Amino acid sequence: MHHMDFKVSPLPGNPAFGAIVTELTPEAIQNQHVRQQLLDLFTDKGVIVFKGLAELDTQISLSEIYGEPEIHPLLVGIERPREHFVIAEIDYVEEDGDLYELNGELRGGFLPWHFDLAYMEKINRGGILRAAVVPNSGGETGFIDGIAAYDALPDDLKQRIEDLHVIYRYSADSSTARFGEIPEKCLSLSHNISFALEHPSVRNPVTHPMVYAQKESGRKVLNISPWHAIAIEEMENDEGDALLRDVIDRMIRPEMAYIHDWVEDDMILWDNWRMLHSARGVPPGEKRKMRRTTIAGDYALGRRLDREHAEPLR
Ligand SMILES: [Fe+2]
Repeated sequence: MHHMDFKVSPLPGNPAFGAIVTELTPEAIQNQHVRQQLLDLFTDKGVIVFKGLAELDTQISLSEIYGEPEIHPLLVGIERPREHFVIAEIDYVEEDGDLYELNGELRGGFLPWHFDLAYMEKINRGGILRAAVVPNSGGETGFIDGIAAYDALPDDLKQRIEDLHVIYRYSADSSTARFGEIPEKCLSLSHNISFALEHPSVRNPVTHPMVYAQKESGRKVLNISPWHAIAIEEMENDEGDALLRDVIDRMIRPEMAYIHDWVEDDMILWDNWRMLHSARGVPPGEKRKMRRTTIAGDYALGRRLDREHAEPLR
């Protein structure tokens, strides 16, 4: 597809979601007509790879098309020097990084399939990732579309989950996850995240609907973050766990995913109310540095429960 101001192509492998934007200039981002086209593309496709544009100011002005910047709620009040106050720095370095064993391999900075802030009532609209340091090997980011994942479910399963809610709780160590792709072992956790376990906002569990409809299109979204999910509400038993496991295992099948292999100057925008993402991790010894804007918003379907967690957080 050709617009006047940029070119749109499908992602490699031609998934039902996602797009690559090329030939866009920083000047064009200021144009109201272009901004509307980029907003419509985001609503339609869920994830956009921008080629040849990666630069701090461009990242921030692109991000502002989709909403106000948001500081990560668990980072508010934490003073730490960073490139820009709206930029979150997601770095893996061997000296202070998360290291896991997954399927017998060591992976630094691995994050399993999730949407951001599932353990909060208010989940951010989206984000833009920029690669500041691309590792020599590994470091890919995966995306799975909740709309495509919902469409792929059999009808009886769609009906069973229609009105269910999933309970979430914060955890820093993904080897303690109950669902999804779970590492066998956590060998180390970055010191940067330990404060989050003390944060008052993560003391109570939160629920989100398993299915909801995208406001602009009415398309149904399978709205489950495998990481941080602990149970189906009012089905906190073996039957509920088996149902949730079945739906999640279908959702994260390898053929549902687009795995992006970063090159310098790439930026990726994703819709956090629709897409799962996963940091696939790097071999230990590699360095990977990502810069992320977070786009504020509230889909208003999250709900905090008034009970506290039974077990301590980890
Ligand atoms: Fe994330």
